Amino acid sequence: MINEKYFDNFPQLQTERLCLRKQELKDAAHLQQLRSNEQVMTYMDSDLHLDVRTSEAFIARNLASYEKKSGFFWVITAAGTGHYLGDIILRKIDRTNARAEIGYTLMPEFWGGGYMKEAMRAVINFGFKNLGLHSIEANINPANTTSRELLLKMGFVKEAYFRENYFYNGKFLDTEIYSLLKKDFIQQ
Ligand SMILES: CC(C)(COP(=O)(O)OP(=O)(O)OC[C@H]1O[C@@H](n2cnc3c(N)ncnc32)[C@H](O)[C@@H]1OP(=O)(O)O)[C@@H](O)C(=O)NCCC(=O)NCCS
Repeated sequence: MINEKYFDNFPQLQTERLCLRKQELKDAAHLQQLRSNEQVMTYMDSDLHLDVRTSEAFIARNLASYEKKSGFFWVITAAGTGHYLGDIILRKIDRTNARAEIGYTLMPEFWGGGYMKEAMRAVINFGFKNLGLHSIEANINPANTTSRELLLKMGFVKEAYFRENYFYNGKFLDTEIYSLLKKDFIQQ
């Protein structure tokens, strides 16, 4: 079901305003800027990147995950200028069930401009039409209103509310699970 050819040639995706390209080690400084921003990290429930080496190690793990054929890690750049806007990923590629998990972060100066909707549309379209996924899942912190609104706009449906299933920073946190089925994805 999964089209393995995309693990030989990384799928660069183009939209009207954006170019989604493979995340590389050279992106570490930008990633660190993104993941050391407390506003960005509020509901990410993962550690801040306090130095660029942390971001390099993070990217190295992502590259290894792609090599192991379990995830795609894109950098979102402005088409034309190549300016770094953020990142978007498809990970935990589940071949048995043709399912994957989506994740995304954007530099705050670009929030509210419809950029993530544009990037997600491209990634979801790739996931269903090219990669061969049947469904895509997203996990959010229930307090992350913006992320929830974004998922609902893309047609995701709430599937579950897990109580205190995620231990981070000394606390057990709740998680909301959303999903989108291929047949329900209407390309906007
Ligand atoms: C979540 C995030 C990626 C959204 O990116 P974005 O480019 O600003 O989103 P868009 O402009 O495409 O907006 C998508 C929808 O989200 C909703 N939205 C955007 N900003 C919002 C806000 N401040 N409050 C409530 N809803 C909001 C709207 O429904 C919007 O659709 P509309 O423009 O048609 O009204 C961005 O806020 C972010 O990087 N947050 C920090 C990291 C994070 O939490 N990532 C998700 C982890 S699960």
